[in-house]
Amino acid sequence: MNDAERLKALLETLQKQSGLDAETYASIERKLKRASQPPGLDEQGKTKVILYDAKSYDMASFERQNSGQFNFKALDCALDSHTAELAKGFSVVCIFVNDCCDESTVKRLAEMGVKLIALRCAGYNNVNLDACQRYGIDVVRVPAYSPHAVAEHTIALIMMLNRKLHRAYIRNSTGQFLLEGLVGFDMFGKTVGVIGTGKIGRCLIDILGGFGCKVLAFDKYPDENVGNLAHVEYTDMLTLERESDIISLHTPLTPETHYLISEESIANMKDGAMIINTSRGALLDTKALIAGLKSGKIGSAGLDVYEEEADIFFHDISGEILSDDVFARLLTFNNVVITSHQAFLTDEALSNIAETTLLNINEFVAGKRGENLTNRVDSAC
Ligand code: NAI
Repeated sequence: MNDAERLKALLETLQKQSGLDAETYASIERKLKRASQPPGLDEQGKTKVILYDAKSYDMASFERQNSGQFNFKALDCALDSHTAELAKGFSVVCIFVNDCCDESTVKRLAEMGVKLIALRCAGYNNVNLDACQRYGIDVVRVPAYSPHAVAEHTIALIMMLNRKLHRAYIRNSTGQFLLEGLVGFDMFGKTVGVIGTGKIGRCLIDILGGFGCKVLAFDKYPDENVGNLAHVEYTDMLTLERESDIISLHTPLTPETHYLISEESIANMKDGAMIINTSRGALLDTKALIAGLKSGKIGSAGLDVYEEEADIFFHDISGEILSDDVFARLLTFNNVVITSHQAFLTDEALSNIAETTLLNINEFVAGKRGENLTNRVDSAC
């Protein structure tokens, strides 16, 4: 007889002896059932997963992939040391790019009984992995969901800025059909600097080949297959900066890549160069970019990420006063296009994210821990 069965027998004896009424009996029985539930499971034995910063499109794809084994709780708020309290009773927490998993949040999550942080994204710069290790929390991620989605969005930004589609759209919608100020350039024959030639960088390089562009590539670990492509040449950062018409960032954010594009690197660039960042905001020193845009050194910029995006992106702040002066200045340039971390947002990517995240959680539910988890990230990554 296990503990739950022993308690149930005791309850029945108590009912017989003291004549508990049916309602009180049922209420005690319900509480007993809840108390004897293994942590992280609901009354039907489904794994409870709390999703922070979860939007309707996230939940639609997670529910589509749920064949009944998960009980999701979606929260609109982001994770931080205060909202960590909401994870009480959950052993699995699912987070996205702007949830903050610093030391104090990880500590609080561990106190709440959390054992797994399942990132529904590739980047993990927002998670203190050392703290997770110390507090016994495993971290898993979705290493690739659709590199095509991000590479294609990168192209969308490039073409929007090049052919000034954002300006044409606004003009035309107000009946102004002039072409002055809308002159672009042929992509054919242009040199594009691709920094980071992993999954997304490689997809972008392939698309650029179709345009007839020459690619100057830079990566800490060059890929021989990429280097063998006829339109690609690996080079050093300085040459890439000096010779590229367009520069696109595709490395993870690490201490080494923080402000990879700085005042100094902008000074090295061609006059009128276009900069695209669809990776992480802090790869680029935004103040240096603004100075470059003001002086005309930088011809245009397409940004899907911003170093202080957490309080801005994914929120409707249209009724508020924008307190971030740097971001406010960026919004004033007619040669800057900003999208709010939406490069990943395709049906295919959302469904791959949900599928891999649930596979990751299933491995944990099946008892896998640490390095036995397929998509684990740790401080050695
Ligand atoms: P990946 O891991 O396949 O490729 C990253 C490349 O960067 C690797 O080839 C690696 O060798 C290189 N790299 C690492 N450190 C470097 C350094 N210090 N200097 C030069 N190269 C370095 O990653 P993937 O899938 O291509 O993603 C790249 C980044 O894109 C992610 O880390 C993430 O931050 C961002 N991302 C943005 C999304 C969005 O919606 N805007 C969606 C998905 C990813």
